[in-house]
Amino acid sequence: MRKEFPGGALAVDDVSLTVEAGTVFGVVGHSGAGKSTLLRLVNGLEEPTSGSVLVDGHDLAALGERGLRPVRREIGMVFQQFNLFRSRTVLGNVLYPLRLAGLDRATARARAEETLEFVGLSGHGKRYPEQLSGGQRQRVGIARALATRPKVLLCDEATSALDPQTTGEVLALLRRVNRELGVTIVLITHEMEVVRGLCDRVAVMEDGRVVETGEVYEVFARPQHPTTAALVRSALHAEPDGELLERLRARHPGRLVTVPVVDGVPVMEGLSPLLREHGVDFAFVHGGVGEVRGRPLGSVTIELRGERAAVEAVEAGLAGSGRRKAGVR
Ligand SMILES: Nc1ncnc2c1ncn2[C@@H]1O[C@H](COP(=O)(O)OP(=O)(O)OP(=O)(O)O)[C@@H](O)[C@H]1O
Ligand SMILES: [Mg+2]
Repeated sequence: MRKEFPGGALAVDDVSLTVEAGTVFGVVGHSGAGKSTLLRLVNGLEEPTSGSVLVDGHDLAALGERGLRPVRREIGMVFQQFNLFRSRTVLGNVLYPLRLAGLDRATARARAEETLEFVGLSGHGKRYPEQLSGGQRQRVGIARALATRPKVLLCDEATSALDPQTTGEVLALLRRVNRELGVTIVLITHEMEVVRGLCDRVAVMEDGRVVETGEVYEVFARPQHPTTAALVRSALHAEPDGELLERLRARHPGRLVTVPVVDGVPVMEGLSPLLREHGVDFAFVHGGVGEVRGRPLGSVTIELRGERAAVEAVEAGLAGSGRRKAGVR
């Protein structure tokens, strides 16, 4: 589909995506990439200039304003700035969509309290948003979005206003929303860390287009598009470059080699025999191995120490086995 705004901004250009029910799908990209517009197309706040949006089998454009209402009720929205009613209590905020949906007072109240308990805020119902921390406010935002028991939750930069620890807590809550309630989540963010912590699949957007899409581990381990590679690099701090590389070179006179560590590719196992065979010693100088979605991922930069010819033989051996990513020197 496409979305062109009057005046010519082509915010979403030829995008085609499918989100499986019950999964968490991330859309990542820099400012202005078209992420928010894409979400607004999914909940029917914007109409595509061409193409169509199907939610749970319903073509939004074909429904009309009246037909859209029950479908919108299946979609919850969470915002970066929380968008809570300041003049209403926490409970009042969560009650609002329930009363709007026509639930009677007692049922709505029971549902709201149950939802507040799920997000860890039971006992806070009488407080006002400004008496809460950012993380708590976002929990209220999530509770309000979940109160009507939607099938889909759309999160627009839901953690961007929060510090790293609070971000982690909100991501953990969203993970529970997905796993325990079975809610499908579409989340947009400019941070790859958020994708890493929560998503099953990810689409990378740039200038209104999706430049890459895939399973999260695969995208981290083998990014195809330069924009994706740059986003992944900033999240993993993988290969040293720039001033860091200069400092490493000043500290370590030997040959520096960066070896990627990817699930299913036995790197270190291949390195030891090569070093032994050529009588080369080594030292770790940078990097490490972490996890993405429970699988190992990282890179290790080592300094090779030995006779020049022997060092080159080790390097050639690493390259020959396809294991050497880049000799940084
Ligand atoms: N209502 C509108 N009218 C005209 N142009 C718009 C409108 N909304 C968005 N745009 C333009 O569409 C493009 C994509 O905007 P969008 O808000 O979707 O990006 P984004 O990826 O969400 O950015 P950010 O990370 O800054 O939130 C931008 O060039 C923006 O200026
Ligand atoms: Mg946006």
